Amino acid sequence: MYYADESRYEKGMKYKRCGRSGVMLPKVSLGFWHNFGSVDPYERSREITRYAFDHGITHFDLANNYGPVYGSAEETMGRLMDDDFRPYRDELFISTKAGYDMWPGPYGNWGSRKYLIASLDQSLKRMHLDYVDLFYSHRYDPDTPLEETLQALVDIVRQGKALYVGISRWPLEATRLAAQYLRERDVPLLIYQGRLNMLDRSPLKEGILDLCAEEGIGFISFSPLAQGLLTDRYLNGVPEGSRMSKGKFLKEEILTPELLTQLNSFNEKAKSQGMTLAEMALAWILEQKAVTSVLIGASSVAQLEQNLRCIK
Ligand SMILES: NC(=O)c1ccc[n+]([C@@H]2O[C@H](COP(=O)([O-])OP(=O)(O)OC[C@H]3O[C@@H](n4cnc5c(N)ncnc54)[C@H](OP(=O)(O)O)[C@@H]3O)[C@@H](O)[C@H]2O)c1
Repeated sequence: MYYADESRYEKGMKYKRCGRSGVMLPKVSLGFWHNFGSVDPYERSREITRYAFDHGITHFDLANNYGPVYGSAEETMGRLMDDDFRPYRDELFISTKAGYDMWPGPYGNWGSRKYLIASLDQSLKRMHLDYVDLFYSHRYDPDTPLEETLQALVDIVRQGKALYVGISRWPLEATRLAAQYLRERDVPLLIYQGRLNMLDRSPLKEGILDLCAEEGIGFISFSPLAQGLLTDRYLNGVPEGSRMSKGKFLKEEILTPELLTQLNSFNEKAKSQGMTLAEMALAWILEQKAVTSVLIGASSVAQLEQNLRCIK
């Protein structure tokens, strides 16, 4: 039986208002992309999640196809709800998404109403939830009318299956149109999920962060540690069991001598400030105007513990 730590809100976690909404998100949120699939040991996923919640991380981020296998991270979330978190449902802010390939055929990918609504129904079943706090369009679909995708988000909220909606990886102009469409239907765009880290500053350069600030939309940064590059993980080679050693999402060929030099110089800078590289990388993102939260991944409690030190 799990009893959440009674001092979980006194351990230093800070919460920030998400855009101009009523929702406060923890400055560090936990993502289930890796380490929560059916290939991963359940007890380790459980330990990481419990540690997170016991330290004030109230936001867990999922997507239909997180695993591997697809759907299995949501099944892990369902098991965690049954085993540990059901009594704490109202203290949790759980998100999921649809937009990438999920099931075969023409209705299991991209941005149609057919796909988004069917996918969320499946996600709720896998997670043993009646509703999610936040549902995202996981990517912009250039071939589906924007209005179709956005109206599906509106209807999902009207049906009570999600409390809020967000978009991820949408281009600037489409984001502007989405904010307007959703506002006019009284389902304001809560949050934009994009990749922002010290190695990839695209949302800053492209104007996404400025738009979020202007429109009162929150921003959550995914892969804030560049999948582990912005930590000490790869400074002395590629450790066994690391994401890069698995070779699928983080390829060894990106670790060029130039990148290693840059990472080492970041690491020296962090040390000179009495921080780890991971702490510095997360703190850098949190300093950016309009950023609500960093959405980290972790394969151990020790990593999570280190990463939480970015909160000052
Ligand atoms: N919207 C989208 O399209 C999208 C795309 C990607 C991700 N996301 C979301 O963002 C979340 C986070 O993405 P991410 O996992 O790429 O984030 P990340 O925080 O950049 O990378 C996490 C990985 O870095 C390593 N790591 C973390 N802390 C460490 C530390 N202190 N020391 C050494 N290594 C450390 C671990 O990898 P090892 O396995 O090597 O230990 C960990 O799994 C996902 O779970 C998902 O929710 C969304």
